Amino acid sequence: MRKNIVAGNWKMNTTLPEGIKLAEEVNAALAAATPKCDVIICVPFTHLASINNVIDKNKLGLGAENCADHKSGAYTGEVSAPMVASTGANYVILGHSERRQYYGETSETLREKVRLALDNSLTPIFCIGEVLEERENGTFFDVVKAQIEEGLFNLSAEEFGKIILAYEPVWAIGTGKTATDDQAQEMHAFIRKTIADKYGCEVADNTSILYGGSCKPSNAKELFAKPDVDGGLIGGAALQAESFMGIVNAF
Ligand code: G3H
Repeated sequence: MRKNIVAGNWKMNTTLPEGIKLAEEVNAALAAATPKCDVIICVPFTHLASINNVIDKNKLGLGAENCADHKSGAYTGEVSAPMVASTGANYVILGHSERRQYYGETSETLREKVRLALDNSLTPIFCIGEVLEERENGTFFDVVKAQIEEGLFNLSAEEFGKIILAYEPVWAIGTGKTATDDQAQEMHAFIRKTIADKYGCEVADNTSILYGGSCKPSNAKELFAKPDVDGGLIGGAALQAESFMGIVNAF
């Protein structure tokens, strides 16, 4: 059966000391709790090794926010999947809309990143989602389906079974404007059917599909109550242990 997951995406926030402090706070809160979901924090590359040393990995997973589409070599400034894995991280966010939008990531580069992540035992948290114009002109199902098909449908069923999906409507990210729980459920059910049509019902039923976009303690419960919403990918509210734990405890 699929897992419920709450994952934080810190984006480009916190200095190293601030990040270690935040990770320690989340770690301490989890030590005193019995969450009904897996909890992951995805943090800047610079923080990975240090944070790996201060958290209890049995209770708190650790991930990067991106990795390179090459294994090694002359790619100044890039960080490879083997490098991420060597810090102790187990997850990597791939295809976040900010990467697609500001850094020109395409399905072609994402296929390479997914392959390298899997080859290095990193679980991809693969992001998909439409922009406001696509929501308004009614093409959002087609857009999300194409992102899944082009980014992931080259995988075998066994490989696909290792992917976590995150549906993040771009118009809801950092805007305070959350998709309604019904809008999220409608899209998550569509995503699950898209997976079932390709890989069968068992793979689809076992795939965790997270919602992201202005998710906070006040709306998490309603979103997570929907049958196809298996948790959240949390941006702003993951930057404080209290609000992050408020979302974790919404399960
Ligand atoms: O990866 C996280 C998402 O971009 C959501 O960000 O919770 O700040 O809207 P947000």
